[in-house]
Amino acid sequence: MVNNILITGCAGFIGFSITKRLLEKKIKIIGVDNLNKYYNVKLKKARLKILKKKNFSFYKYDLRKKKTFQKLIKKKIDLIIHFAAQPGVRYSYENPDSYVENNVQAFLNILNFARQKKIDLIYASSSSVYGDAKSFPVKETDFLRPKNIYAITKRNNEEMAEIYSKSYNMRIIGLRFFTVFGEWGRPDMMILKYLDYCSKNKKFPLYNKGNFFRDFTYINDLVKLTLPLIFKKNKFKKCHTLLNISTGKPIKVDLLLNKLINLVSRKLIVNLKPKQPEVFKTFGDNTKIKKISKLKKFENIDIALKKTYAWYQNYKTLFK
Ligand SMILES: NC(=O)c1ccc[n+]([C@@H]2O[C@H](COP(=O)([O-])OP(=O)(O)OC[C@H]3O[C@@H](n4cnc5c(N)ncnc54)[C@H](O)[C@@H]3O)[C@@H](O)[C@H]2O)c1
Repeated sequence: MVNNILITGCAGFIGFSITKRLLEKKIKIIGVDNLNKYYNVKLKKARLKILKKKNFSFYKYDLRKKKTFQKLIKKKIDLIIHFAAQPGVRYSYENPDSYVENNVQAFLNILNFARQKKIDLIYASSSSVYGDAKSFPVKETDFLRPKNIYAITKRNNEEMAEIYSKSYNMRIIGLRFFTVFGEWGRPDMMILKYLDYCSKNKKFPLYNKGNFFRDFTYINDLVKLTLPLIFKKNKFKKCHTLLNISTGKPIKVDLLLNKLINLVSRKLIVNLKPKQPEVFKTFGDNTKIKKISKLKKFENIDIALKKTYAWYQNYKTLFK
């Protein structure tokens, strides 16, 4: 039985969305987040305000620090869901240290904590570990070619998880998320960034004229795919399992941008040359997770974009 879950990164986009759904299911959540300033803290605080109800306790702790775990050790926890990290590909060129500290050191601390408490761990990896794949859709067993520091820290997480699970007989599940978007999403990612730039009359920087593909995953689909996994985790062997969390329908970015342009009736773009660290295409094979979650139908992309835009219009002050 899973009744008490520690969720890290609960004030972040994905952590918040999963926590919200688990609270609706009356699960007790210990939420941890250091509320870093990578993007507007107002947005993180607004997410926390929604979560602050019965069964939710929040701790503003930093997972890089060992003392965080001394404070958490006595708490009743049946499962750790680790979503805290330093995300973003482009930012990893300006601030590589942040990735090593928040993604590598903090992850090692989490692994040690799970080992010490003898509890299972579900953590966020990323589609970026695949890099420029040779064939599509990419499967969990495919060769990895990470192209940037962010992707390398995520592959490092997977390797550390593999070693810990083998050495200490631990059940660890890594989720390779593919470009997630939707309500309460991240302002540094394409869809909300375009909406926000338009609203502020700023030109959106578009690389390579949008000639690349992304397997965009709507947040409500991600939650539907991930939740059954949390409750069925004991069906997994005590080993390290990796799962793609994707829609399995890549879209060319210029097409997606056209949908946004039609939605907001504004075209504000500045074209920039391609950037080396970006991968050309992401397209994940989601056979495994679809079988586990039994999810057959994904949200229609136009409806998902409309919902995201409607949310943005109500909450755009959080982006200031
Ligand atoms: N959003 C996506 O499209 C996507 C795609 C692939 C992988 N991921 C991964 O999924 C996870 C969640 O991503 P997100 O989009 O919700 O990002 P997010 O930035 O919105 O959430 C991460 C949260 O972790 C917190 N955090 C960071 N370092 C911390 C530390 N040392 N101690 C405590 N808290 C810390 C941040 O304050 C933030 O609120 C991350 O691991 C990310 O790398 C996300």
